Amino acid sequence: MDADAKKRAAAIAALALVEDGTFVGVGTGSTVNHFIDALAARRRHIAGAVASSEASASRLRAAGIELAALNDTGDLPLYVDGADEATRHLQLLKGGGGALTREKILAAASRRFVCIIDDSKLVPVLGRFPLPVEVIPMARSLVARKLVRLGGQPVYREGFTTDNGNVILDVHNLRITDPAALEAEIGLLPGVVCVGLFARRPADQLLVAGAQGVQTITR
Ligand code: A5P
Repeated sequence: MDADAKKRAAAIAALALVEDGTFVGVGTGSTVNHFIDALAARRRHIAGAVASSEASASRLRAAGIELAALNDTGDLPLYVDGADEATRHLQLLKGGGGALTREKILAAASRRFVCIIDDSKLVPVLGRFPLPVEVIPMARSLVARKLVRLGGQPVYREGFTTDNGNVILDVHNLRITDPAALEAEIGLLPGVVCVGLFARRPADQLLVAGAQGVQTITR
């Protein structure tokens, strides 16, 4: 089974958690794209979707799924999203697709956050994947220098602008042994909009697709 087939299996497993008549928070990425495609078959039953990116909003719209604004829906019963890395403690590293800020907003606004991944992304320690940090453009150099002092090697994601009009620094060579502490420390740097660690508000449920099927890890 290749990685894409595993992503699809995880996405289909998440579909079973969607309740009719509710709004669903929808993340961003290739795994979530499978979820959107699966959700499209059920569009008569859900009230609508709140998207974490313009890319997911376009795909949802194209699938005929009604879009709603978080300011109108209030808290969401369910948010489904992928990740770049996850631990068995359900702490996540996200933002490879650059949508981390809106993803973190939806995670905070949701009663149940279900993360869907293939088993290559389950790691003992976060940080092999470069940590994305969304930054206000004028603070890019300042934040980069501060990140170097924290032991990382920030790389400017050239030619990329987030949906919020900001830039991304991808921080290499961090071995993240205390994700919640690092999330707070980087999050407090002036100019940082969001850091792609989801540890203070981790996932509630991890659906990990492997060759043997989909494993559920719950808090
Ligand atoms: C988007 O900004 C990310 O947080 C995604 O959740 C992450 O990059 C996973 O993407 P794939 O499902 O494409 O691997």
